[in-house]
Amino acid sequence: MSTSPAVGLLALKPFRIAVCLAILAAASLGCGGKDPSFEQGQEIYKADCLACHGPGGRGVLYSKTVLDGSALVTGDPEEVTAAILFGRSGTGLMPGWDRKLTDQEVAAVTTYIRQAWSNQASPVTAALVAKLRTREEKKSQ
Ligand code: HEC
Repeated sequence: MSTSPAVGLLALKPFRIAVCLAILAAASLGCGGKDPSFEQGQEIYKADCLACHGPGGRGVLYSKTVLDGSALVTGDPEEVTAAILFGRSGTGLMPGWDRKLTDQEVAAVTTYIRQAWSNQASPVTAALVAKLRTREEKKSQ
């Protein structure tokens, strides 16, 4: 009598639980590997960022407004989140969003630009946004 290795594996309860959890996790990510706040971020992008950063994140003004393939956008999550929260000025001026968007909204739009188009970086959480806000408040005291 031969039992297939897969059936043998599923018969072990801890493994069965692990498999179920993996399936649930995949389902909640829509199986596309996108974070749940991706869609919320997409709406915020359309409303608040598209005018200056363009459809497809290709930028409308000059190279620094190109978000698709940007090393800053897909790099350290704290750096890109801080850029969105507090703004940036170089050749042009990028407004800060700390007064206009909630922690969850900043997290969602940051997650969106990190995972949209050709970008494939990790999601950003509202907890990280909250941490950066308090750090900035302490600095300005
Ligand atoms: C009024 C125009 C404007 C709006 C609206 C705007 N940005 Fe920007 N953004 C800019 C400009 C200009 C720069 C480049 C600044 C510079 O020269 O360094 C920039 C830079 C950035 C960068 C850094 C890119 C890099 O590779 O250096 C990020 C990230 C970014 N914006 C995200 C956003 C997000 C997310 C939103 C919407 C919540 C948004 N921006 C809305 C004008 C804008």
